[in-house]
Amino acid sequence: MEQSAQQVIALCRKLAGFTEEPGHITRTFLSPPMHQVHAELRSRMERLGMVVSIDAAGNLRGYYAAKSNAAPRLIIGSHLDTVPRAGAFDGVLGVVIGIALVEALQGRRLSLGLEIVGFSEEEGVRFAIPFIGSRALAGTLDAPMLERRGSDGLSIADAIQAFGLDPAQLPAAKIPDETIGYLEFHIEQGPVLEGLNYPLGIVEHIAGQSRATVCFTGKAGHAGTTPMGLRHDALAAAALWISLVEAEANKTPGLVATVGRLEVEPNAGNVIAGSVRASLDVRHPQDHMRHQAVDRMLEAAKQLANNRGVAGEWKQHLDQPATAMNPAMTRKLSDAVMAAAYPVHPMVSGAGHDAMVLAAQVPTAMLFLRSPGGVSHHPDETVLATDVAAALTVGMNFLNSIGGTR
Ligand code: GLV
Ligand code: MN
Ligand code: MN
Repeated sequence: MEQSAQQVIALCRKLAGFTEEPGHITRTFLSPPMHQVHAELRSRMERLGMVVSIDAAGNLRGYYAAKSNAAPRLIIGSHLDTVPRAGAFDGVLGVVIGIALVEALQGRRLSLGLEIVGFSEEEGVRFAIPFIGSRALAGTLDAPMLERRGSDGLSIADAIQAFGLDPAQLPAAKIPDETIGYLEFHIEQGPVLEGLNYPLGIVEHIAGQSRATVCFTGKAGHAGTTPMGLRHDALAAAALWISLVEAEANKTPGLVATVGRLEVEPNAGNVIAGSVRASLDVRHPQDHMRHQAVDRMLEAAKQLANNRGVAGEWKQHLDQPATAMNPAMTRKLSDAVMAAAYPVHPMVSGAGHDAMVLAAQVPTAMLFLRSPGGVSHHPDETVLATDVAAALTVGMNFLNSIGGTR
């Protein structure tokens, strides 16, 4: 598997060259370079005898038929979109490993069909909500969601059309009835496996996440002439609130909270900020802890805005519950890890994954690969070839155990 692991890594690095921003890896939902990613992966899958299509949400889907018709189907997938200035492996690695597993079958057909899915959107960058691709498979990419607009003024439906697809065809993207499970390979994106010196981890739970936009509206004014006591500085209010968010997370075990994006108006060095839109991302393995923390953070925004004579408003876009993986599928995955003589390490994922959405539809399991340095959502993100080889061996063990014909 060592050679095949090197090829997996080389393909991920090649796909990283398909980007909206030269010199960086940035590929948001249905952006033009996604066409190049699709073309590259499509030709590889077709060479393996797979039937390839793009569904109406822009998910790339390749089917490797079973040895008989009317067979059950296992979906293996992850996402092809990235955060801005990303690394080369978050999401993409899981899709490329799926294709490498089909290649490793060397034409052998299983008693189940394999569908490899490259989800079009998981990160939530372009429309401030994640999982657009996997929602289409779950049948929950509904009309109100299609009308949601991004900062370029286009709706999700517009973006689908601009990519050359037809939103009216979305019902056909739904997960086929014969699907018996979903398996996702993904880098850990954190330091746990490296700390233990383990190549792989078995995901048992994925932390829930809330995402919101908080707006502070004050009054723009002259930076040189407006006395300090007469200001309604939206950015000063936002800055104080951001420190409160961080303090809230620091004092709550298991809670992580991030303000990663600010839009400041008019955004000039000599003008007091008139308004600020801030993103909020809050995660915790237990939903009630997350809900309470979000309530406290939003209440703090209101109080602080009041005290400083600015208006504070918010809108929540996402309340994705913590999700358990399927115990039976997870046991099979653990057996596959044990059969390959790697340690079995159950873990909680702090990152969100397409598996969260698929888990509501079909039995779902997830395998993590160690992240060197624990680095992700950063260009330094990487993966070890030996760990990719381990994941491929485990993947083959898993396929042979649930659909093998040996
Ligand atoms: C996806 O990477 C996330 O934000 O968890
Ligand atoms: Mn990811
Ligand atoms: Mn990510």
